[in-house]
Amino acid sequence: MLYSSVKVGIIEIDLDHYNIDTMLRLYSSGRVPTFYLPQIINGLIKHFVNEEEIIAAMGHEFPEDHKFEHARLTQALESKLADWKDGKYDGQKFVEEVREILLLHVTEYDLLLGANDG
Ligand SMILES: [Fe+2]
Ligand SMILES: [Fe+2]
Repeated sequence: MLYSSVKVGIIEIDLDHYNIDTMLRLYSSGRVPTFYLPQIINGLIKHFVNEEEIIAAMGHEFPEDHKFEHARLTQALESKLADWKDGKYDGQKFVEEVREILLLHVTEYDLLLGANDG
């Protein structure tokens, strides 16, 4: 299942999700060279910051538990990326795991951002 098929309802956020999902999918299918993996992961980490800024720009307070989850995921992603760079972690496995984590994150946290809009 694609996590970008779950719509938050805030266009910039949904677009970000769509782009990240596309990159992860292309990587999974072997259509993106392996050395792009750090760019994909760093793009995802940047998305967390971007998402917080979009909500702030809309004049809403970003939920603390959601911010905490972004920080937790960022740490986990950075440590897995370091393992991958050291050859201790398989790129395909990493990407599959990231896709699962994101689907959960979007449904548990991001969807609430759209629900409070307006
Ligand atoms: Fe998100
Ligand atoms: Fe989020």
